[in-house]
Amino acid sequence: MCGIIGYVGAKNATPILFDSLKRLEYRGYDSYGFATLDGEKIWVRKSKGKVSEAGFEKLPGSVGIAHTRWATHGKVTKANAHPHLDCTKRIAVIHNGIIENFEKLKSDLVKKGHVFRSDTDSEIIAHLIEDSIELGLPEAVMRTMKILKGRSAVLVIKNDFDGIVAARNGSPLILGVGRDEYFIASDVPAFLNRTKDVMYLDDGEMVVLERDRKPVFRNIGTGTRIEKRIIKIDWDAKHAEKGNYRHFMIKEIMEQKETIIRAINQNDGEIKKVAAAINKAYGVFLIGCGTAGNVCHTGEYIFSSIAKKHVNHVVASEFPGYRDFLTKKTLLIMVSQSGETADVLEAVRVAREKGAKVISLVNVRGSTLHRMSDFTFHINAGPEKAVASTKATTAQLAILYLLAYACAGRIEEGKRLLLEVASKINDMLNPRYDERIRALACSMQRKKNIYIIGRSLNYPMAMESAIKIMEVSYIHAHGFAGGEMKHGPIALIEKNTPCIVLTGDGSDQDTVNNAMEIKARGGYIIGVGPKKYEVFDFWLKTPDVGLASPMVNIIPVQLLAYHLGDLRGCDIDTPRNLAKSVTVK
Ligand code: F6R
Repeated sequence: MCGIIGYVGAKNATPILFDSLKRLEYRGYDSYGFATLDGEKIWVRKSKGKVSEAGFEKLPGSVGIAHTRWATHGKVTKANAHPHLDCTKRIAVIHNGIIENFEKLKSDLVKKGHVFRSDTDSEIIAHLIEDSIELGLPEAVMRTMKILKGRSAVLVIKNDFDGIVAARNGSPLILGVGRDEYFIASDVPAFLNRTKDVMYLDDGEMVVLERDRKPVFRNIGTGTRIEKRIIKIDWDAKHAEKGNYRHFMIKEIMEQKETIIRAINQNDGEIKKVAAAINKAYGVFLIGCGTAGNVCHTGEYIFSSIAKKHVNHVVASEFPGYRDFLTKKTLLIMVSQSGETADVLEAVRVAREKGAKVISLVNVRGSTLHRMSDFTFHINAGPEKAVASTKATTAQLAILYLLAYACAGRIEEGKRLLLEVASKINDMLNPRYDERIRALACSMQRKKNIYIIGRSLNYPMAMESAIKIMEVSYIHAHGFAGGEMKHGPIALIEKNTPCIVLTGDGSDQDTVNNAMEIKARGGYIIGVGPKKYEVFDFWLKTPDVGLASPMVNIIPVQLLAYHLGDLRGCDIDTPRNLAKSVTVK
């Protein structure tokens, strides 16, 4: 969840760390802090709130670490912001993750006389390192990592060590290799404007970065050295910038003009191979969280209607409850933009115990999920910086359609349909369409509740619509299966309660009947779909693309969520209480 960055080089570290922290802010943004090393002195500065240079002087030193926080243990206070220091203030630590055995470790350290200055779990790392510092910094970090349970990525500096020691177990860390300088961060966009040469750390590994020396990678468990190679990132740094857009979210919505084409540009042979594995498997699960979970749920309908194949969707956090159904013949299809979501990785771990195979759909190359999977489809959406997922969603859906068509032996038909969808989305995303949706948002901006219904393929999209509206505009929204309204939720409908009705998937007649039931109770019906029905008070037209209707129907809802958030003055790209990568369970 948190974002971490370290620098070792010849330049002053502070401006570089600031710049990188801003790029990492989407990972957490309730407080931030720095520690730099100058000669034998460690300088520390912390602040509550979002990363801001206001009031921050340039600290001396060309080695430094910085952190932007998403609170887990301990409130949002300056004291709880990272870095954390040991008792002697000679060791500074930043941490991304969660330490499950921290209460016991903390009480042991307190008994030994360590004095804590924060309520965080992370501070114990500084004190544990202090406890064994006579071994030297790298060994002390290694020993500490072996003690910690849970998920951690850690960067450590010490007053008399001219560099950084970094270690990971469960949370991501990537080394950027520049000319005579190193960057180490939780995500590539942190340093993409400075280098595209990266080296990945795997779980259970650490790296020692000393000025003017080659990085030394070691296995935390055995201490043995590991050779790594440099990988070139093919993302363009400008894709991770806002360009002329006011927010990343709207930029990423608009990018869907191209991202679907990029997503379906997969190797046919690989698609067919994975489709054959799906057809052969005994038990196929589609697994993801949040928006990706809704994509998986849509996938269940996609495989059923196109491939006539039963696959089960399960939200990742609930998947461990299915462990008794897993065998070597089970196949998991994991869907994750970041490839770092803790619940997703835990689901893979559970499946691995039973020998199941894992295919993944991932946006971030080199992410933990990519590296844990038997095979990965890269969705190629480019960096998604807004916390609310948009372009990754349609790219993930596109690949699920392609796989379902391949399972049915009709891959060419699938590609034709998806090319048509891409071209129609390109037409939809025009200024007039956007203006019309902004006008609708204007009329809805003070509503307290919004409901969304859909059936079949559009039922999961109704739930996805609710996520988008809630997280970006903070208006309460709830998505239901159309047929379920009359079993309870219809009691919530009052005069002019807005209800978005998703159509165009072949179940229109029943959905329209449900819309009528809502309208009869005073609801205001916003129809989304290719056909204008009389029951609609407002119509958002989407193209008729048959079974691919979820891909086009979600576009106006993404725009509506964006405009509602903008009109209500919300923090669109970094909504309160959220983070882009959810690396805690
Ligand atoms: C909502 C959203 C989240 C993510 C979820 C999973 O807009 O983005 O619900 O979909 O946190 O993240 P990934 O796909 O990175 O596993």
